[in-house]
Amino acid sequence: MARSKRIEFLADLTRGYNKVLDIGTDHGLVLSSAFEKGYIKSAIASDLREKPLNQAKKNLRKYPISYVISDGFSDIKEEFDLAIIAGMGAYLITNILDHAPSGHHEYLLQANDKIEILRTYLMNNGFSIVDEFIIHDRFYYVILKVIRGKMILNEDDILLGPILKSKPEAKPYYQRKARQIEKIMVNADEKRVESLKKMHKIYKNHIL
Ligand SMILES: C[S@@+](CC[C@H](N)C(=O)[O-])C[C@H]1O[C@@H](n2cnc3c(N)ncnc32)[C@H](O)[C@@H]1O
Repeated sequence: MARSKRIEFLADLTRGYNKVLDIGTDHGLVLSSAFEKGYIKSAIASDLREKPLNQAKKNLRKYPISYVISDGFSDIKEEFDLAIIAGMGAYLITNILDHAPSGHHEYLLQANDKIEILRTYLMNNGFSIVDEFIIHDRFYYVILKVIRGKMILNEDDILLGPILKSKPEAKPYYQRKARQIEKIMVNADEKRVESLKKMHKIYKNHIL
């Protein structure tokens, strides 16, 4: 089955966990790669909708997996040690995390947009980022590894990532973001230009 670099990267990050919960599993591609590579032994595949979950069942039939129709965590009764919430918008991920169970779980989060909204939410809601990764797979994708805990982020951290900002592989991504801002600024109104300039400066300072 053809799988993207993003899916393979997420699967690689499941290594060493006991039971992995994949929220919004869709066709179960992350779990299927993780099982194939021998990184995990059991999992919960969950989705809001029945149709993708049935497809996941077909793709994952060889493996010991529970299938649950659930809106986020609402109908997840089994224990897990890692939850993956990937390939969704930042606001949807924050809505799902609002109902995350308490306890010692880890989370792999990959928002398709507005990573700064997700980082701000995490800081304000008792989550702490323990690692960050970037991959380029046509687009840039940032993946956050998160646990429960206290974290204080400044403006630079929110935009660049508290851990990602020290990784050399993030520089081309910051370069891309700075260029995108330059294009947006051409047609932006005065008030917006001020905040765009501030963001642009933060990205630029980290490219040098
Ligand atoms: C674009 S797919 C992402 C699939 C996969 N996680 C990935 O990273 O490629 C989003 C999936 O999330 C599911 N979804 C959307 N909202 C959800 C929610 N509140 N709870 C569980 N699943 C949800 C959708 O049905 C869809 O299958």
